[in-house]
Amino acid sequence: MSKQAKAAARGPLFGFIPRHVQGRQIRKALPHSAQYKAILNMRKKLPVYEQMDSFLEIFNRNQIMIIVGETGSGKTTQIPQFVAFSDLPHTRGKMVACTQPRRVAAMSIAKRVSDEMDGESRYKHSCGSELIVAVELGRQVGYSVRFEDMIEPGTTFLKYMTDGMLLREAMNDNTLAQYSTIILDEAHERTLATDILMGLLKDLAKRRFDLKIIVMSATLDAVKFQKYFSIRSDSEASLFKVPGRTHPVEVFYTQEPEKYYVEAAIRTVLMIHRAEKPGDILLFLTGEEEIEDACRKIKIEADDIASQDPDSVGPLVCIPLYSSLTPQQLQRIFDPALGPSQVGGPSGRKVVVATSIAETSLSIDGIVFVVDPGFSKQKVYNPRLRMESSLVCPISKDSAQRRAGRAGRTRPGKCFQDLLRFDYVDPPAPETLMRALELLNFLAAMDDEGNLTALGKLMADFPLDPQLSKLLIASPDFKCSNEILTITAMLSVPNVWLRPNNQRREADAAKEAFTVPESDHLTLLNVFNQYMLNKHDRNWAWSNYISARALAQAENVRQQLQRIMKRLDIDLVTTNDQVKLFTNIRKALPVELHPSCGLKTQPEWVISNEFVLTTRLYIRTVTEVRPEWLLENARLYFDLDSFPNGETKRALKRVQAKNFGLEKSRNETSRGRSRKGGK
Ligand code: CDP
Ligand code: MG
Repeated sequence: MSKQAKAAARGPLFGFIPRHVQGRQIRKALPHSAQYKAILNMRKKLPVYEQMDSFLEIFNRNQIMIIVGETGSGKTTQIPQFVAFSDLPHTRGKMVACTQPRRVAAMSIAKRVSDEMDGESRYKHSCGSELIVAVELGRQVGYSVRFEDMIEPGTTFLKYMTDGMLLREAMNDNTLAQYSTIILDEAHERTLATDILMGLLKDLAKRRFDLKIIVMSATLDAVKFQKYFSIRSDSEASLFKVPGRTHPVEVFYTQEPEKYYVEAAIRTVLMIHRAEKPGDILLFLTGEEEIEDACRKIKIEADDIASQDPDSVGPLVCIPLYSSLTPQQLQRIFDPALGPSQVGGPSGRKVVVATSIAETSLSIDGIVFVVDPGFSKQKVYNPRLRMESSLVCPISKDSAQRRAGRAGRTRPGKCFQDLLRFDYVDPPAPETLMRALELLNFLAAMDDEGNLTALGKLMADFPLDPQLSKLLIASPDFKCSNEILTITAMLSVPNVWLRPNNQRREADAAKEAFTVPESDHLTLLNVFNQYMLNKHDRNWAWSNYISARALAQAENVRQQLQRIMKRLDIDLVTTNDQVKLFTNIRKALPVELHPSCGLKTQPEWVISNEFVLTTRLYIRTVTEVRPEWLLENARLYFDLDSFPNGETKRALKRVQAKNFGLEKSRNETSRGRSRKGGK
């Protein structure tokens, strides 16, 4: 046999010993295709790629490793690949996991990495058989985000996932046996899920010596993580600093009153396009609609300028970036700008219009100008009011980042015991934690001793907020679980209503046709049912100004939730009389307990899913309810003895006197009764 034939028969991974693999072996084993080579040339310039040897040296010798490196240095795309080469997880039926706080990042990076690894790769199994594969997204490299699992068991060896998903897996298998190495990325964002994972992994590392842990961060907070993870008294977790590579970036702040910030930002972008040197632009705006709108406006104006003055202004592409885009759509932000539209003409420019997800999770090359109107939409939890709100707020880039981390940290944890004594990197604010526990207690998911109840355990099985889980589990008692399942799915997907700027009136009229007057939740149910009847008609969604993509997603989410209900023996039931059904659904909704009642809205009592605070306070997705239902179904929450004094309390007292006057004393003795749905 010739030398080459021998080498080919052995496969490129011949001689790789797990966790003793060296950089030169990896570089020699790398595959083949033209796309692969082109990307490889880009990868070679990344600081992390240059550090492959020193990384492997530290990784091979240590169980826990902390990595710091600036955004764009190649941490997220490169490190997990090096680890996969060193771990050879497939030879042991395991995977390498890399977590991300944001689902967009998990999806788009998995796509990128599967492209980077593209080409015919050969993998030798321990049994001796050899596998020749082209790396594909969803197969060898996959991702897992809520309601979307793009992996192939047995084939996937590298899995990008949200931190929330890994936390969920840890609830079912606290040894995380599927993984050979777990990489917690973007640790500086300090989401609640990542923080809790750090505690769990620290503990797990003492029991699973074969498990390696890497914590990656873009800031020097890393020293704190290093101290935290020093689990053996004689040694610290090792710290690996990737030397930085800074690009000059110019930041333009628009100085306009709040009301006109979008217009001001668009003007600034066009000014840069017309007058500044080559280089791409990143514009921060707050949400999907605003971004799509701005893209359209910028495009129209830029085309106009380019056609008037083709000798000095090049073509411009405008690319939106927000969380509900598909991985394929997301990948467009990494496309290079267009070339000149004519020979010798000015070169093209790319404008990415993004939400704050572009701050650290996704680094985009070629950005030279950043336009930051200084607003961002945030989910902020206020423990006093016990509510989470979407806020459009003025914010510095720095504090936007800090706040995003903080908002994430306040979501109620789902089922971790002993949260008070849990080994956190930084313990959460006591008031926030107390409210989260209190919420679980109100929902009867946790008893007064802080133990998870049977209901609480059921709730934890759903990948939903506690309120929605509880609603779903309680819904058979109200004879409407079939419908509540749909509503829950609809509440878990992006906005279904399309409202193109130049067709607002038509869109509003179309929406009107679906509207159920007393309840947005019922309206959502109605849209979904209509969609199911009409989905064979490709024009239906579009001509009704409804997002077919969001509805298809809702259908998928519904199926997934239905499977969980089936597994947990929760009945799918409905009420045949339409009027009764609608009342039942509205009755079921108050178990979802949102403290919005008493707001000055048209109906006297409503429950709602979301608060949005812009220039005014709005509530979104609202259903009118009767106050006596609140007293009946959410008794612990609306306990009048401890309810804060005020208008709401007085109104509830009147309702109580009217409806429960005689029953009152009987009910009071049965507090803590077995609750509706507490099966
Ligand atoms: O994690 P870190 O910020 O250190 O860098 P990274 O996300 O690994 O990005 C490394 C390089 O890959 C950057 O030049 C990105 O622009 C590029 N990249 C890409 O082209 N497509 C993606 N989907 C993600 C990253
Ligand atoms: Mg990264």
